Amino acid sequence: MKPRLSVALWVLAFSSLAHAVMRGNERARGAAVFSANGCLHCHSINHAGGHRGPDLSDVGRRKSKIAMRWQIVHGSRAMPAYGDVLSRGQIDDLIAYLRSCRRAPVPGGPARN
Ligand code: HEC
Repeated sequence: MKPRLSVALWVLAFSSLAHAVMRGNERARGAAVFSANGCLHCHSINHAGGHRGPDLSDVGRRKSKIAMRWQIVHGSRAMPAYGDVLSRGQIDDLIAYLRSCRRAPVPGGPARN
């Protein structure tokens, strides 16, 4: 393999690895924002949480990023608005976390983790 090509491949491999690690961090921070800001009182994810709002276990398959952001920033009749409560970075992390929630909720089923 030509040296220049192999350098390019290394750079590519390294940057996609770094990207995956960063995405993992975003998701972990988003999960912390979710439990620290009362979302869990109303929403369940994988059998943990409240039931005033919809189960979000599979929200990553159902909702676009834009729709999630809209809901979080503006709230709705039954959900408080978080646009003035959370920073933009916190909302980005929340969305990264919610986008990774892609399991079908099983009402009353065993917890799956
Ligand atoms: C007081 C209860 C309550 C709290 C707290 C709450 N929500 Fe909600 N949320 C709801 C309800 C109820 C809905 C359904 C839409 C409606 O009826 O207004 C909803 C809808 C949503 C939706 C769209 C879900 C879907 O299936 O369409 C998302 C995403 C969401 N909430 C995220 C959050 C996040 C993130 C937080 C915390 C920052 C949060 N919610 C806090 C009650 C709440």
